Amino acid sequence: MKITVAGAGNVGLITAVCLADAGHHVTCVDTQKEKILLLKKGHSPFFEPGLEPLLEKTLSNGHLRFTTDQKLAYSDADIIFIAVGAPAKKDGSVDLSYIYAVSYSIADSIEKDVIVCTKSTVPVGTNGKIKQIFHYRKPRHLKVEVVSNPEFLREGSAIMDFYLGDRIILGVDNPETASIMEQLYLPLKIPIIVTDIRSAEMIKYASNAFLATKISFINEIANLCEKVGANIDEVAFGIGKDKRIGESFLQAGIGYGGSCFPKDTKALVQLAGNIKHPFELLESVIKVNQHQHSLLVAKAKELIGSLKGKRAALLGLAFKPETDDIREAASITIIKELLEEGANVTAYDPIAIPNTHKLIGNAIDYTTDIRQALKDADFAIIATEWGQIKHLPLDTFAAYMKEPIVLDGRNCYSMKEIQRYPITYVSIGRPVVSKGRVSSMSLK
Ligand code: UDX
Repeated sequence: MKITVAGAGNVGLITAVCLADAGHHVTCVDTQKEKILLLKKGHSPFFEPGLEPLLEKTLSNGHLRFTTDQKLAYSDADIIFIAVGAPAKKDGSVDLSYIYAVSYSIADSIEKDVIVCTKSTVPVGTNGKIKQIFHYRKPRHLKVEVVSNPEFLREGSAIMDFYLGDRIILGVDNPETASIMEQLYLPLKIPIIVTDIRSAEMIKYASNAFLATKISFINEIANLCEKVGANIDEVAFGIGKDKRIGESFLQAGIGYGGSCFPKDTKALVQLAGNIKHPFELLESVIKVNQHQHSLLVAKAKELIGSLKGKRAALLGLAFKPETDDIREAASITIIKELLEEGANVTAYDPIAIPNTHKLIGNAIDYTTDIRQALKDADFAIIATEWGQIKHLPLDTFAAYMKEPIVLDGRNCYSMKEIQRYPITYVSIGRPVVSKGRVSSMSLK
């Protein structure tokens, strides 16, 4: 099939490359000229494991092409995926201007019947508005079917998630459209759920809201564990064995970040508010998460006193490992709070430094060498569970730091292991270890 993907971002580029690799002829169109030029050379504007080799392969075998030319991109397509950004506005509502702009461009460019699939995460009812745009704007003799086809891939494992996802959701108006879409996806052998458009839009929000809720839930349990002397590792293991709860997404830490959970939870609260049904549970999930981001600087102040003039090593900038994305990352909150306290910050990250520097500039120092970050530091904060941090020999802290005080926001190390070293170690939902001994004290 001839497929066009509008938007070369985290969702669009993965969709384009993977569908091209599945043998389809794919055109990926974006308005940003410099991004398209980079992609034409086989380089991705963001880091995603395994993406560039697939990009090069599908470019060289002619299954994938990039353009900024909308007529070329849309006129002859059988299926068009809308995968452009739908960012959050200040009030938490969703900016749909890019979605509507692409819909108008498609309506003005098509020369044959087409299926338009919205992959971007959009509030319930948006695809109805997209249908209206086509109804009034498309050439009268052409048929345009609109489908809600939300994406569930995770950054850092996007390609694996495309091929090994748990389900494909198709929100359609008629069975004929569903069967064409099923032909596209059948080779992936992933269960396909066909439903109505509004339910498909809600499935996406409900999924992300539930996952965010699960994370804030385990984080609140972790906060209680600290007060009652329990260990969140044991508690998470014990509850996760219940199949109704499930073992995943029970990793306590300093909260979720990224371009989705923060945006989608706020959008759902906003949508609920608009229909006079306040989503109080989700409002608490968001509040708990904001509190988690600020946990470690508060604990550092409790432990050390004033941070003014102290040297802080911040290990990890990306919102999660295997990505260079720092959007809504806990590390950014931590940097701002450390600077407010007058601390001097040296941040380590293997790949997210360029994106952080664009946002924070030279207010902090940066290094891709963990030992350099730890050198002469008064304390270290771990914000991302990079493998390089998790597998760091634990004697490194005492060897390089002025004071081996480690505040671990991702529980990278086992309590048993950490007690073998003269480290003062604060983590999430577990007892404090002071110079190798578990102490009864619990911090803030
Ligand atoms: C998420 C959804 O998982 C994905 O289905 C959707 O399409 C996009 O949003 P993503 O944000 O890329 O994916 O990454 P994910 O692995 O879900 O992690 C999100 C955040 O939750 C990260 O900040 C991560 O550190 C945090 N997290 C995740 C926890 O704090 N604890 C966990 O147990 C799992």
